[in-house]
Amino acid sequence: MTTKLRCIVADSYGELSQIGADAVEAAIKADPNVSVLVATGNTPMGLYQELARRRANGAFDASHVRVFQLDEYLGLEPEDRRSLFGWTRRSFVDPLGIPLENVTRLAPDAGDLEAACRAYDAAIKSAGGLDLAILGLGPNGHLGFNEPPADAHAPTRVVDLTIESIESNAQYWGGRDVVPRVAMTAGMDVILGARQTLLVVSGSHKRDVLERTVAGAVTPDVPASYLQLASDVIVLADRDAWGAMPQPR
Ligand code: PGA
Repeated sequence: MTTKLRCIVADSYGELSQIGADAVEAAIKADPNVSVLVATGNTPMGLYQELARRRANGAFDASHVRVFQLDEYLGLEPEDRRSLFGWTRRSFVDPLGIPLENVTRLAPDAGDLEAACRAYDAAIKSAGGLDLAILGLGPNGHLGFNEPPADAHAPTRVVDLTIESIESNAQYWGGRDVVPRVAMTAGMDVILGARQTLLVVSGSHKRDVLERTVAGAVTPDVPASYLQLASDVIVLADRDAWGAMPQPR
């Protein structure tokens, strides 16, 4: 296996979370105003908990960090337990003491969704671009909700979720039938434009898609494979996800 990506294989999910927290802490310390694209999903939760623990112990101050929401379901009431904004807030924004005015949401309740997407992109631009993207890897190779096929220039937009994403998100909310079918996602252009990217991947169920991401063809069928062309990407996987691929150098 050859890959241009910088890959780190952690022995366990706990170690992955520590190494991921080290990277995010370093980014915040290097620039307290860092602009971060923040994924939900199960994989980064250990990393976020570790960051919150360190921040509570005084390791760093995150109050100037700027947060950009990665994706959101459409058709939910603001207080719906499935809101991904709510999840971002509970797991990252509040535990790190980041004021809400520093957070740019995707606005699924906007009357004009296209205008909401353009406003989101404009907010990233006026922040000077994204410094860091923290991403998980979808079982179908998606980043955010850029479902395959998605090309590298796909803009921030409304998308229909694929059956793989609906099934994978069912574990969060207690069944397929409660997963919304339509979402808004930061575009591939936004994601690939981040100056630094941390892709966290855990569990044996991600082996195949991880191999296609790091060592397969760069293709719209595996949107995450475009990371092979991006600058300063760290793929942080645990051993279960890395599987039998050769140890990265
Ligand atoms: P997960 O989700 O971290 O819960 O596996 C990743 C994703 O679907 O993007």
